[in-house]
Amino acid sequence: MTRRLVDRAMRRGYTLTRRALELLQASERPIELLDEAIRELERGGAELRLIDEEVLRRLLPKPSKAELPEKPKRVEEDAGLAIEVDDRYLGEWKIRGSASEFRSYFRSRYERLSKILRDRLGGASELKSIIRLGDGHEAYTAAMILEKRESARAWILRVEDPGAEATIIVPKAGGLGELAGRVLLDAVAGFRVVKRDRSLIAEEIVLPDIPPQRVEKAGPDAYACLLSDIHLGSRHFRRDLFESFLDWINRGRDPEARRTRVVIVAGDLIDGVGVYPGQDKELEMKSVGKQLEHLAKLLSEIPDRVELIVGPGNHEPLQKALPQPPLPEKYRKILERSGKRITFVGNPAWIRICGRSFLVYHGQGLDDVVQNAPGFSHSSLSRDVGAALELLLKHRHLCPIYGGSTPILPLGEDLLVIREVPHVFHSGHVHVAYAGSYRGVRIVNSGTWQEQTSYQRSAGLEPTVGVAVLVNLRDLSIKVRRFI
Ligand SMILES: [Fe+2]
Repeated sequence: MTRRLVDRAMRRGYTLTRRALELLQASERPIELLDEAIRELERGGAELRLIDEEVLRRLLPKPSKAELPEKPKRVEEDAGLAIEVDDRYLGEWKIRGSASEFRSYFRSRYERLSKILRDRLGGASELKSIIRLGDGHEAYTAAMILEKRESARAWILRVEDPGAEATIIVPKAGGLGELAGRVLLDAVAGFRVVKRDRSLIAEEIVLPDIPPQRVEKAGPDAYACLLSDIHLGSRHFRRDLFESFLDWINRGRDPEARRTRVVIVAGDLIDGVGVYPGQDKELEMKSVGKQLEHLAKLLSEIPDRVELIVGPGNHEPLQKALPQPPLPEKYRKILERSGKRITFVGNPAWIRICGRSFLVYHGQGLDDVVQNAPGFSHSSLSRDVGAALELLLKHRHLCPIYGGSTPILPLGEDLLVIREVPHVFHSGHVHVAYAGSYRGVRIVNSGTWQEQTSYQRSAGLEPTVGVAVLVNLRDLSIKVRRFI
């Protein structure tokens, strides 16, 4: 991208300053922004053919009030947290299973992701014109991956866009092989291809990805506490550790606990019933109602200054297909017996807290990454979970593979596309704690409160038990608290 931007500016007779180049790279639509800057300078009859930070800043949208740095507020002075939930992710979706629903679902996915790619690449050609390229000619295209085959020297990808299908050969030499191996089926990727001997050879693969983010200090000096995979009801639930967590959050003398204003639980609150064969042998409480009642009792110990946000996972008693709606009302009522005001969200959920955006996702798509992307396995997740979450961000999709281990509802709009760049990407499901940053986005996997199960033992997965991850809303710094 750097080379494309510099070349594009030079071809028009302009020079980019280093800071201007950084700003362009951080933009969602670098090529368009560069072209706008050139048009602006030409309109103004500028003599100096230089594109600097000032020129670009005039074209960039002004930061919203919520993103502007402000004086840190003392938490005690805050009346309440400003929490907004995107209600597009709260639906009770119904599908008929018709072919037209599948077509419009995939069309929505392609359009959203190819738009991100076209903005990043400064345009892309349709496959039907790429197929007709003359020998030695090259072009960019954006296509969905239908099939992947591996030979000794190349990956052979069958791809499509709304107008045509084609085969792209990705030679393993030159570093492209590893990336081609990690591009997931049904994902949308960009390719720079060259026609050679009537074949399309990939010379570059571009995932939609996220542009680098700059973190401005904003909002109150307060913490969001991220949890998931409590699995209450399981014989392996570590009640003792969860009680230590409750003691901590109640302890007024601990400054971090005192400044914790919201707890977000990203699914698998309870172990559920009948989730997998033979689960009853691992259950301490054999009804969903009882599990939720006990959880309500524990949640009632969370102090009133702390808001609660709760989303479902694959162990909750509701549809397993993504996107999942919030917990059904009859179960919400049981949790509300805790006396807490709880915001129930779906999975995934987009939540804004004091201007910070949280993408909260249980994380079922991580199973598909483990099963399909070379180099990942359950036993290596304690090392690789951050890379697996990064791969989803790079694909700009929470669960690219359709018909893999995670069922997906073919809705008219693909709600699993990561349409915006969140400040925090919070996931769970794999029971391995991780806290890191990718291009400025904070990535968290919030571990579990359940000891290793027999299934996890057989898969070689070592869970991180008794973990809460604290994200500071002001500067997005992260602290991992262990309660073991
Ligand atoms: Fe879980």
